[in-house]
Amino acid sequence: MKNPIEGRTILLGVTGSIAIYKAADLASKLTQAGAKVDVILTEKALHFMNPLTFQSVTGRKAYTEDDLWGGEGHVVHIELGRAAELVLIAPISANTMASLAHGIADNLLTVATLASHCPLMIAPAMDGGMFANPATQANLHILKERGAIVVGPAEGHLASGLTGPGRMVEPAEIFDNVRFLFSRGGPLQGKKFVITAGGTREPIDPVRFITNRSSGKQGYAVAQAALNAGADVTLITTNSELTPPVGAVIKSVETAAEMQKAVEEESKDAYALIMAAAVADFTPIQEQTQKIKKETGIPVLELRSTPDILKLIGEKKSITGFPKKLIGFAAESQDLIANAQRKLETKNLDLIVANNILAKDAGFEVDNNRVVLIPKKGESISLPLLSKQEVAEKIIEVILGWE
Ligand code: CTP
Repeated sequence: MKNPIEGRTILLGVTGSIAIYKAADLASKLTQAGAKVDVILTEKALHFMNPLTFQSVTGRKAYTEDDLWGGEGHVVHIELGRAAELVLIAPISANTMASLAHGIADNLLTVATLASHCPLMIAPAMDGGMFANPATQANLHILKERGAIVVGPAEGHLASGLTGPGRMVEPAEIFDNVRFLFSRGGPLQGKKFVITAGGTREPIDPVRFITNRSSGKQGYAVAQAALNAGADVTLITTNSELTPPVGAVIKSVETAAEMQKAVEEESKDAYALIMAAAVADFTPIQEQTQKIKKETGIPVLELRSTPDILKLIGEKKSITGFPKKLIGFAAESQDLIANAQRKLETKNLDLIVANNILAKDAGFEVDNNRVVLIPKKGESISLPLLSKQEVAEKIIEVILGWE
């Protein structure tokens, strides 16, 4: 499936801020994802950067004030505005925000934005005092009310020497917001996907816990692939260092019991539940309220079984019909296919993703995976070594094939 940005026409406006250096990276990322990026630099932006930089990364002409009054005359701004499927202004200065809020069209960028009929996304960048000023806040409010998508600003060190909100967010975050925007209306539109990720933590005492080697990467990748296809995604995740996918509703859990509660709640009205999490099968019978001390000797941990969440949901599914589709993972160190097949049946799944956890180049912690997709109906698909993102896309492709 193609990424939601591919083939889209984006008008990228850049205004006079030191954060403009990040805009070149953003233009490059969008172009690499297959977008046609038309850049407009305001006069003040030219103090910081040359149009050639943008032309070099987009492979298209970058426009300046001269183009408004130049050879092609007044039609340029209308064309740029009309062709755009998104007007993205990053960085946007306090001044350009004020102009847009009040319909002032006094340069090529503001004229083209006014002439456009598409969504507007802005990433403010300015000094903290300017951002906090009631005038700026009021302008921001007006733009939001009209539907503008505001990304950031982030907190941190500002060029003025101050620290606070005002920094333009990183290009990767803006890119993710653009991708989310364009993913809406995709083939999984209106379908709720509940996806779990990461290894649970079962507490022994206030400082120790039992966990496993799951990093959550495969689950996060599945969440991103489902979002890309237009789904509404709820990601139930354990403690993870990974950046949550833009657009997903995030539910943080720690233990198997917390995950069970969240999954039961969220999958009542879900189209699909994809259990990519590595749920602990055993948990200490009792969590010690005080730290276990060395002097008391080597402790003996008594464990009990946790409920099999997937199996419970599989039983509910046969009664209520929800979630409509149930997808599990099988982590196996031997008899991969036979064991996965058995889990597919006993847990009442529509699809199981089988992976051999002993492979060195795939599986836990690393970025790649080699899996076999075993559906309830139809042929199994044995995939080669792929990135976890590619594996996620294959899983979503199989689900799309059920429609
Ligand atoms: N799973 C679950 N609840 C558990 C254990 C596992 O929902 N308490 C889910 C996992 O998220 C995964 C699937 O069941 O999607 C299979 O997990 P796996 O660890 O491979 O198998 P288990 O059923 O735990 O069996 P075993 O550990 O004996 O292989």
